[in-house]
Amino acid sequence: MKTEICISIIAKTAEEAIKGLREAEALADITELRIDFIKGINAEKLKRILENKTKKAIVACRTKECNGNYNGTSNERIKLLKSAMELADFVDIEFETDSDAINSIIKNRDMINNSTKKNTKIIVSYHNFNETLQLEKLDEIYKKIMKLNADFVKIVTNANSINDNFTIFKLLRNKSNLIAFCMGLRGHISRILAPKYGSCLTYASLREKMESAPGQLAAKELIEVYNFYRINQKTKVVGVVGEFAENSMSKHMHNSSFRKNNLNFVYMPFKAREEELGDFIKNFMEFNFSGSSVTVPYKVLIMDFIEEIDKTAKDIGAVNTLVNKNGIIKGYNTDYYGAINAVKEKINPKGKKILVIGAGGASRAVVYSLANENAAITITNRSMDKAKELAKEFNAKAADTKSLKQLMRENDIIINTTSVGMQPNAGQSIAKENDFAQGKIVMDIVYKPVFTKFIEFAKKMGCETITGDRMLIYQAIAQYKLWTGQDADFKTMESALEKETKR
Ligand code: ATR
Repeated sequence: MKTEICISIIAKTAEEAIKGLREAEALADITELRIDFIKGINAEKLKRILENKTKKAIVACRTKECNGNYNGTSNERIKLLKSAMELADFVDIEFETDSDAINSIIKNRDMINNSTKKNTKIIVSYHNFNETLQLEKLDEIYKKIMKLNADFVKIVTNANSINDNFTIFKLLRNKSNLIAFCMGLRGHISRILAPKYGSCLTYASLREKMESAPGQLAAKELIEVYNFYRINQKTKVVGVVGEFAENSMSKHMHNSSFRKNNLNFVYMPFKAREEELGDFIKNFMEFNFSGSSVTVPYKVLIMDFIEEIDKTAKDIGAVNTLVNKNGIIKGYNTDYYGAINAVKEKINPKGKKILVIGAGGASRAVVYSLANENAAITITNRSMDKAKELAKEFNAKAADTKSLKQLMRENDIIINTTSVGMQPNAGQSIAKENDFAQGKIVMDIVYKPVFTKFIEFAKKMGCETITGDRMLIYQAIAQYKLWTGQDADFKTMESALEKETKR
């Protein structure tokens, strides 16, 4: 069965629900009406709403005990669900906590369907808002629900770790009537990959901030960013592993390029904590994911978990790209390629005097790439010992940040590699306005926001500027090639990123 997107409609009035229904049906094949949120809902109102549907609809009326909002009597609710059996395509009932509905609806389903001449299907749902139980326990729940004679089983659990998603993928194996995914920010991959692993439905919100469950993505985002309707069992999975991977812009660049080149790949955030990395890499290999970007703060740490490291990445001392090469995971660094190409858009760095501010992981890739071009590099950093160490490794000079103004005058190119000025601290700059001197080339590797305070000062003082999105695009282009073997379409990536950074 093809996985469909189900949009949940939470509305306070019947009119609002009808409006929601129309909007949702323009995006998805199936809607879920949470009638427990509609004030004074009764059979007549329900009929009025459902008369407007043109596609399939699920009706759910959850009580407070089932994390719903219904506050009428049990009898009234059962009456409503019986009406739903006449009018809707599916009725959703909660497992365990909803014995009233289970007794009156499921047990009498055939009788109800015979008398209404409909073939309304029953979904029995298990929600766990706290955790994802072990596979064996979830399998037991599935079996218990099947014994109730449900048509479809829905198992939705909270992901406390990226690795919980893989439990759900395993649960989905060999079951054709299961809807299963994880809730929460850490559960996104199970919602996106529902068609790959065989969940009958994935639930989405009508718009951002209209979620009916934690971590629900907007339908438009699933369709337009993740190319949801193109995902199938053969889709190759890539993503970005990071502590705050959900903030990454790369999904826009890669997914739009996959669409443009007609490649069956999908890119998504792998939001993981440090202690989850080991198991994540095991799952990544077991599920044969194709590759990943690596972002803050794992570019160095990830090296402990992988089998092979490319020479350049080793020399730089950081990995920002993982590639699954026939079952072996190999680490690469494409940040250096990003940095050098971004600089070269404006100037050939050969023999130029370059000041690099910062001596962290990102700085290493920048310094490596410029040292390869025989530039004369000076590194300055808040922690002087780190600047000295890096300078020694790459035959550069280290200088005290106290002389920043002077250093910015002595050098031709000035590059900020620190995180200063990055959201949520967008108003900050590592250098003051009058530290900048006219005619210099100034680059910031911070790309969120694209126009940082550092860049703003540089422009004001008459410098040429290179914004952080340039390095981001070039490093992504190199990653794309490593994963797919094909060249990404530069313009597609550029405009996908531009669209997002302007938002
Ligand atoms: P990344 O991988 O993004 O480079 P990192 O390795 O943590 O991250 O490096 C962050 C860089 O930003 C370092 O150079 C850091 O300076 P320290 O080495 O002194 O920590 C610099 N940095 C971060 N916050 C800073 C601040 N408020 N002022 C000055 N430098 C800062």
